[in-house]
Amino acid sequence: MNEVQPIREKRQINAIKKAIRGRDLLLFTLGINPDGASFSYNHATHALVVTLPAGGTATVDAPGGTTWTGDIKLNGTLIATTDVVGGGKSLKGHKHGGVQAGGAQTGTPV
Ligand SMILES: [Fe+2]
Repeated sequence: MNEVQPIREKRQINAIKKAIRGRDLLLFTLGINPDGASFSYNHATHALVVTLPAGGTATVDAPGGTTWTGDIKLNGTLIATTDVVGGGKSLKGHKHGGVQAGGAQTGTPV
């Protein structure tokens, strides 16, 4: 078996919760959700999948920052409250060369 599927029957979930303690209880609780949310890891493909039901949200509160290694594909809108920096260039504060102030618009970024 390469993938773990959640147990969704409440009676079975409660019986298991009564039988385990400590770290095992925490891990069990994180993996089982009656609304269909699930966390799964496929050992064969090394794929971690977190699935939330319609309207589900996720929040990571990490005041020290987070680090992601690898490309990120976003199927939606990215909203940054302060700035986005790519290759050392600030999206909010970068400038364009070869233009003069006035009513005209610049071309697309080169
Ligand atoms: Fe620009």
